[in-house]
Amino acid sequence: MTRRSIGIIVNGVTGRMGYRQHLVRSLLAIREQGGVPLADGTSIWPEPVLVGRSESRLREIAERHGLTDWTTDLSAALARDDVEVYFDAQVTQQREKAIRRALEAGKHVYTEKPLAEDTEGALDLARAARAAGVRTGVVQDKLFLPGLRKLKRLIDGGFFGRILSVRGEFGYWVFEGDWQPAQRPSWNYRSEDGGGIVVDMFPHWQYVLEELFGRVRTVSCVTATHVPQRVDEAGRSYPATADDAAYGIFELDGGVVAQLNSSWCVRVHRDELVEFQVDGTEGSAVAGLRSCRVQHRAVTPKPVWNPDLPVTEPFRSQWTEVPDNEEFDNGFKVQWEAFLRHVVANEPFPWDFLAGARGVQLAELGLRSACEGVRLAIPELDL
Ligand SMILES: NC(=O)c1ccc[n+]([C@@H]2O[C@H](COP(=O)([O-])OP(=O)(O)OC[C@H]3O[C@@H](n4cnc5c(N)ncnc54)[C@H](O)[C@@H]3O)[C@@H](O)[C@H]2O)c1
Repeated sequence: MTRRSIGIIVNGVTGRMGYRQHLVRSLLAIREQGGVPLADGTSIWPEPVLVGRSESRLREIAERHGLTDWTTDLSAALARDDVEVYFDAQVTQQREKAIRRALEAGKHVYTEKPLAEDTEGALDLARAARAAGVRTGVVQDKLFLPGLRKLKRLIDGGFFGRILSVRGEFGYWVFEGDWQPAQRPSWNYRSEDGGGIVVDMFPHWQYVLEELFGRVRTVSCVTATHVPQRVDEAGRSYPATADDAAYGIFELDGGVVAQLNSSWCVRVHRDELVEFQVDGTEGSAVAGLRSCRVQHRAVTPKPVWNPDLPVTEPFRSQWTEVPDNEEFDNGFKVQWEAFLRHVVANEPFPWDFLAGARGVQLAELGLRSACEGVRLAIPELDL
């Protein structure tokens, strides 16, 4: 088998996402499986170049995984001819300017979401990438979750009839950091550092809604900062300036209404950290990260509202588990493989910078809707 090596800058590799999902679970996992196979027998072989600010942390990660290529000098890495792809998993605020440098150096760019801090910035990057003639991609990992893949299979198979509504619950309790350390980085809770649950989650909701149910046409949103004071990684108390919960209603093409709650201030009484209930004329489904359960019209029970009597129906057990019927790989890795095939073999890849800009736009308009207390239309974006 011929190996086609491809140098990939992994900037922000010391972070949660950069290290675990992108380096270890994607790029190194691809090497462990022998690369990304192409139809002509060639195998794409990622050669990660670890980039970050701390020499000691980069060296430690490199040594842990038998890698030797790391640097704190992004310009030097971008100047290399053997580096074809720039990948960004830095904190959101650092992204736009770093991607711009990568585009100026003529690199293909793949990045974590959100693509930029505002829609204009995201569109600017999309235009610059088009002018540079390079390939672009934005992480849309939730599309590859087993639960959502099964949901998509149900939609494609016509299970629901006409889809009426989608109700999603995402969230869990993120500790304040005082008596137990917080399980998310503190920048997430400071808007001046690019934090906030709308900026974090609405880009995900945009592509999930669009790919499964239809274009998002309006948004109305209420946000809250339920926990106003938190304690950071160094044990210092700080004011939480960003939204830590968002209650959104989205109208989609075809009249589908989606309500999605996102919260870092909610305790989980669900089977999974995210769940979507989809109701259609012919049937309903509840999908999480991994599982998906359905109830068809023909087996729908007929509850009658009577608060004087205890519930007699075992509602939860009246749903049927959808079988996997296939092997589900790590979603980040699956999307990396698709992006690398896009770069090397020109295979289609729909999740480009323009798609990423739509995610940024939904977050921006969600925040504006909350601020102004109004429902806003989502204009089509164009380059
Ligand atoms: N796809 C997903 O499901 C998902 C989940 C979580 C986060 N994310 C995204 O991934 C990105 C990183 O999030 P994370 O949770 O890994 O954060 P993190 O804080 O763990 O990592 C951030 C990285 O950026 C670097 N960094 C921090 N400040 C910097 C600065 N001033 N200059 C340059 N580099 C700096 C850090 O050293 C670290 O490598 C964010 O944009 C976030 O939106 C995506």
